[in-house]
Amino acid sequence: MKLCGANFYVPLILLTCYCFWTAATYCPRDLQTCHTATSLSYTPAKLGVEVRGVNLNHELAQDVVDQMKQDVHEHRLLIFKDQGVVTGERQVEITKLFGEIKSSFESHPASPHPDVFTASNDNTHGHTDVGIYGWHIDGWFEREPHEIVVYHMVSVPRTGSTAFIGFDEVLNTLTDAQRSRWEQLWMVGNQGTSIHPLVYTHAVTKKAVMCLHLGFIERFVWNYKSKHQMVTGTKETQALLQEIHDAFVQHDEALVYKHSWEAGDFIISDNRAVAHRAAPESQLPVAEVGLRVLHRVTVAGKIQPKK
Ligand SMILES: [Fe+2]
Repeated sequence: MKLCGANFYVPLILLTCYCFWTAATYCPRDLQTCHTATSLSYTPAKLGVEVRGVNLNHELAQDVVDQMKQDVHEHRLLIFKDQGVVTGERQVEITKLFGEIKSSFESHPASPHPDVFTASNDNTHGHTDVGIYGWHIDGWFEREPHEIVVYHMVSVPRTGSTAFIGFDEVLNTLTDAQRSRWEQLWMVGNQGTSIHPLVYTHAVTKKAVMCLHLGFIERFVWNYKSKHQMVTGTKETQALLQEIHDAFVQHDEALVYKHSWEAGDFIISDNRAVAHRAAPESQLPVAEVGLRVLHRVTVAGKIQPKK
């Protein structure tokens, strides 16, 4: 979809619904029929696009769903604004549009749905210390990492962004020599949970992407399953983790998009194409920054990363 493109499909319905299309590109929530006439409107963010023109609390027209499924790979982050409160059940419903759900976590008692992972800065509201231990993709420990991740900030603290970075941008900054070294690395998760090529090809976009969790990689293997295979020791592992981290945050984090959450934000991400991490401030006490409650639902991977 072209940025900011507007398909004024059935404009008459918009008018009848008294949607003030020129003032706001979404329909009021009490006008249930408006969703059939809305179209996605995109504004570029530093990474991904801000999306308006659709109300996720309403049933989505099939052409809108088809567009979203295509665009999530093109833009990598679809950042839906002004969505109000999306229930856990509805978030699961939306996520299922993208594939089968995989919930590899222990459900928190406060979670609104067994398939909703709940992250918080208060352990009575959700799991704490989530996502702060380094750049990662979700489901990095799975044989087939999650394809799509769907986030909804239910309670927004005054600070505590989520940072995202595109693998394409990072890999393009590397020298040929450094890229060649990274291409020879495989990551091994802690307790041997997984072994994946650090750099591989995204099954849909065919672009180079990465599989990693910089906080939980236990070691690397050079040239896995070849006669030149070599496992890294602690010192080399740490040096490689630092090298990768440094490449991500180079030039004063010029490649990083820090999403400052606002009420009603809902993000659909191409999990395999971007790394993310939560800011340490996301764990500041409720008394200082307010309550943070982030709901996350994940789509199962179907393809094992391979060279
Ligand atoms: Fe994460």
